[in-house]
Amino acid sequence: MLRTNLLALLTLLTGSDALLAVSHRRATTTRLQAIQEYTVEVSYEGKTCELSVRSNETILAALERAGVCNELAIPEVPSECRRGNCMTCSGRHARHSRQSSLRRGDDGLSPHMSREVSKQGFVLTCSSYVVGDGLKLEIGENHQVWNEMYRARFEDDSARLAGRAAMAKTIRMTDERNVERWAIETEAAFQKSGEQHNQ
Ligand code: FES
Repeated sequence: MLRTNLLALLTLLTGSDALLAVSHRRATTTRLQAIQEYTVEVSYEGKTCELSVRSNETILAALERAGVCNELAIPEVPSECRRGNCMTCSGRHARHSRQSSLRRGDDGLSPHMSREVSKQGFVLTCSSYVVGDGLKLEIGENHQVWNEMYRARFEDDSARLAGRAAMAKTIRMTDERNVERWAIETEAAFQKSGEQHNQ
């Protein structure tokens, strides 16, 4: 009786182990099957190459893994924060890029800025994924994205005034912290204006 029970228990355990092994195999297979690979056309200053990007990696990771720098003759793929904040890693959709093949992950920009970046066709490669073929990207767009997203915003009159006020405030604060230097410079200015007056 005892032996029968032990055997039954053993069968049960072996069976459940086997079941576990099968379900683990299935999970692994499902995970493996879920990873796709897509081809992205990447360009930089007139040179173009094809990049294979896995669905579970960012475009920046794929660029680094594939060593595209050699093919495109660039020293490195620029990046800083690697979490969608600084825009250093920016690329941009090239002509005829299939934009629906891009999935933007979370970035660290404000919702407004994030929308604008996307609307202008910029792609933060450190936080973007590929979900289909047909993407065509220009990389090395970090200067361009800064110009368009930030510099352009300082070109209206009110922004210029705000900029000047901020600059004046900075100068005042610096002078207040350096009273001695401020006194010397002011004295020199008085002397200079006195000399000019006596000439
Ligand atoms: S490295 Fe900073 S946004 Fe991509």
